[in-house]
This record gives sequence, structure tokens and C-alpha cells, in this order.
Amino acid sequence: MRFSLNVDHIATLRNSRGENQPDPITFALLAEQAGVDGIVVHLREDRRHINERDVRLLRELLTTKLDLEMAATDEIIKIACDVGPELATIVPERRQELTTEGGINVIDNISRLKDAINDLHKAEIEVSLFIEPSIEQIDASAEINSDFIEIHTGVFANAISEEEQFDELERIRIAVKHAKKLGLGVNAGHGLDYQNIKIFREISGIDEVSIGHAVIARAVFVGLNEAIREMIRLVK
Ligand code: PXP
Repeated sequence: MRFSLNVDHIATLRNSRGENQPDPITFALLAEQAGVDGIVVHLREDRRHINERDVRLLRELLTTKLDLEMAATDEIIKIACDVGPELATIVPERRQELTTEGGINVIDNISRLKDAINDLHKAEIEVSLFIEPSIEQIDASAEINSDFIEIHTGVFANAISEEEQFDELERIRIAVKHAKKLGLGVNAGHGLDYQNIKIFREISGIDEVSIGHAVIARAVFVGLNEAIREMIRLVK
């Protein structure tokens, strides 16, 4: 299983002072040196953390891979096609949310997403759809030629009882198997941390996990290198 690091929080910290430190680009490059398999950023419509300059510089400087999280809007699709990340992960986006709150409903947005995938494919960008672990959503994703799905792991991560956690893990296990049968790549993320990853990694077939908050939070205490190395040890 590969591990990609989301660096949006570093940009949030930078923007809180309206100046240029800490720089998410420096952080991303150091994370690559520490061993991550890729960098993830979410270019939001309101630019609350990552901005266009960040995305373009990352494109130029990264030596692993760039996963651009984005809403399927005309403006962001245009930027994505111009920048050319290795992967575009389409997420639902609501202005008021603190972070992405759940998977996109592919079935209800099928024609818009199909057009978005076509546009991104024309620019030779692979596409992933961030969805709940639902068979219907996976079928719809395959139908419109998505290359990957990213399974929303928030319900698993927020489960209060062991039983609830186990049930959601089973749901994810079935979803991964189904997606693989349809030839989809499978990523996963949201709320994964140093504890729950120990259980989560038992699911086979997941190509990559995308983790942000837990690793950035730990890096504040132990430093970036140590935080990344610890997560790599748990994921691999
Ligand atoms: N995957 C997606 C699609 C996300 O929106 C996020 C949050 O930015 C993550 C993964 C990472 O979640 P977390 O910061 O909770 O690790």
C-alpha cells in the first residue's frame, strides 16, 4: 500500500498570517525526501488553503506524484487540465464545511462527472472519484470510466464502538473487492491515523492511502521526518 501526504494544513497555517511561511512547497519536498509516495492538495473554490501558485510549483518540483483534489467545476477542471497532475481526485465541495464531509454522489451527478472525466482524460490525467464504500456508487464510477475510486474512510475512522468499526471495515472490504473486479484502482482516505491504520491495513487490494491531518499534527510534536517514517512503517 502506498502513502500519499496531504499538505493542505501547511497552507492553512501560512494563510492565517497572510504571509509566506510556512511554505507548503518546502514541506512537500521534505516529505518526499522522508519517503512519501506522493503529495495531495485540494485546490478549493474559495482558495482557503492551497492556491494556484502552489499547485503549479508542486507540478514543477515534485519527483513523486501530484494528486489534485478538486470539485468538478469548469474553473477547476480548466486549471487541472492546464497543470497536469498525475491524478485528479474529484470530491464534493461545500463552502461552509471544515473539510470534505463525505463521498460524492456519482449516481446523482452522472452526466456532469462523465464530462469532467472526459475532459481530464483528454489532458491525459487519470481520475479518481471520492465515494462512499457503496456497490452502486462503484458501478456508476466504472460506468463513466473513472480510473480509480477513493473510498471515504470517515465513517470507519469516526466509529465509536468496535462493532461499528468492524461493520464499516466489512463494508469497505466488500467494496474494494468489487471495485477491483471492475478493474478500478482503489485509494482510501479521511480520518486515518496512527491507531486506526493498524486495523485498516488488513484490508487487501488498496493501492494507496491519502492522509493529512494525523501526520501534520504529529509532525508538530516530533518533526516531519519522524512523523512520516512512523506512518510509512505502519502502512507498508
Ligand atoms: N482524502 C480526501 C478526498 C480528503 O478530502 C481528505 C481531507 O482533505 C483526505 C483524504 C485526508 O483526510 P485527513 O486529513 O483526515 O487525513
